[in-house]
Amino acid sequence: MNVYDGMRIASMLRGRGMTETDDVAAADLIVLNTCSVREKATNKVFSELGRIQKRKRPDALFGIVGCVARESGADAFRRIPELNFVLGPQSYHKLPEILDNPDSKLLNIDLSGLEKFDELNYSNLKPQTSNLSYIPIQEGCDHFCTYCIVPHTRGRELSRPFDDVMRDVHAAADTGAIEICFLGQNVNGYKFSLDNLIRETAKIDSIERIRFTSSYPTEMTDDLIALFGTEPKLLPFLNMPIQSGSPDVLTRMNRPYSLELYIDIVNKLLAARPDIQISSDFIVGFPGETDEDFEMTCDIARRIKYINSYSFKYSPRPHTPAAQFPNQIPENIKKVRLKILDEILTENNRAFNESCIGREMECLIEGPDKTGKHLLARTPYMQQVIIAANNLPPLQKIRITSANKCSLRGEIINLKS
Ligand code: 5AD
Ligand code: SF4
Repeated sequence: MNVYDGMRIASMLRGRGMTETDDVAAADLIVLNTCSVREKATNKVFSELGRIQKRKRPDALFGIVGCVARESGADAFRRIPELNFVLGPQSYHKLPEILDNPDSKLLNIDLSGLEKFDELNYSNLKPQTSNLSYIPIQEGCDHFCTYCIVPHTRGRELSRPFDDVMRDVHAAADTGAIEICFLGQNVNGYKFSLDNLIRETAKIDSIERIRFTSSYPTEMTDDLIALFGTEPKLLPFLNMPIQSGSPDVLTRMNRPYSLELYIDIVNKLLAARPDIQISSDFIVGFPGETDEDFEMTCDIARRIKYINSYSFKYSPRPHTPAAQFPNQIPENIKKVRLKILDEILTENNRAFNESCIGREMECLIEGPDKTGKHLLARTPYMQQVIIAANNLPPLQKIRITSANKCSLRGEIINLKS
C-alpha cells in the first residue's frame, strides 16, 4: 500500500507539471513517504529528514507523509522546525496546498476516510503507462491483531464503492494496463464483493491478469476460492499471511483461526486451482514465543511450501497491546529464529524456482534491467524472470531455462500481440 501511495503522490505532482529527480540538492519539493509497521523504519525517518535538510536547497519544501507522519503529528515540527508539511496516510492528497502556500506549515493527520480516493481517482491523475496497475479497494483494518499499528495509523476498515473502483479499472485499462492488482490491508474483506469485482474486471478484453493483496485467511469466502478455478485471468498466486504456526501465539496475536481451518482453506484453494502457490508473512519472536512455538512456524512454512514470503522480527509498536505483553523475546533470539525461518523460505523458493525449469509461462514484461541488455518480467507466481531481449510486447510466453533462489532466466517462445 505504501508503494502504491508513493506512486499516487508522484502521479499527482506530475499532474501539477513537476518531474521526478533522485538528486535531493536539485529538488524543489522533497516528500518522504513513511511506514510505521516496524520500529526500524520509523527510527530511520528522522535521521533521514536530518540528512535531507543538510543537502536540500534552502528554498526547497520538504516534509513527511504516511504513517510516521500520522504517529508523530505536530511533534514532527518540534523535532525538525524547518519541516513544511506533515501529512498522514489519508491526507496526502492535500500536498498541493503547500505548493500554493509555501510559507505556511501544513499539518493534517486526519483519518478522512475515502476522501483521498475521490480526489485522486484515475481521471484526476496523470495516467500511468505501466503494464501493471495497483487499484486500492479498501483501506484500514478492523482485525486488531495485537502487534499491529495499522488500525491506528490507517484507521477503521473502509471499502470504496464498487462503481468508483470499476471506473478506475477502466481508466487503467484505457491507459495500457494489462494486469490489475487490487489492494487493501484486508483486501478480501472488501464489502462490495471482491469476487464480483474480479468477474467484472475480467470482462475487459485488454486486462489479462488479475490479482489482489493482502488477504486475511478467514475472509476467503467459498465464492472467492471457487473463482481461482473458474476465472483464468485470476493468477494462481495468493498472499494469505499466517503469521505464526503456533495456536497459542495466534491466540495472543488476536488472530482467531485454528491451524486446521487455515490448512482447510489452503486445501480448498488447491482443489479449485491445483497449481496455486501461496505466500505468507511471518512474525518471529512474538512475546512469549517458545522454541516449540517457533518450531511450529517452521513446520507450517515447510508443509505449505510457501513461496515469495516475508518474515519479520516482532517489533513492539506504540498503541498496540502486544507491546505491553510479558515475556518479550530478546533481540538475539529473534535474530536466530529469523535466520532459521529465512533459510526455510529461501529453500522453498529455490525448490519451486527449479521446478519451473522447462515450463512455459506467460510473463508480464516490467521493463529493462539496469544494464539495459535484459528485460525483467514476472511469472504468474510473481517470480522475476530475466530475458536476453530489449523490446517485447507486454505479455510474453517465456520458456524457463534456469533458476536460482531469487530469480529465473528464460527465453522467448512466440510473440503475443
Ligand atoms: N512487528 C513485526 N512485524 C509486523 N507486521 C505488522 N506489525 C508488525 C510488528 N509489530 C508484519 C506482519 C504483516 C506485515 C505487513 O508486517 O507480518 O503481515
Ligand atoms: Fe494489521 Fe493485517 Fe492484522 Fe489488520 S489483519 S491488524 S493490517 S496484521
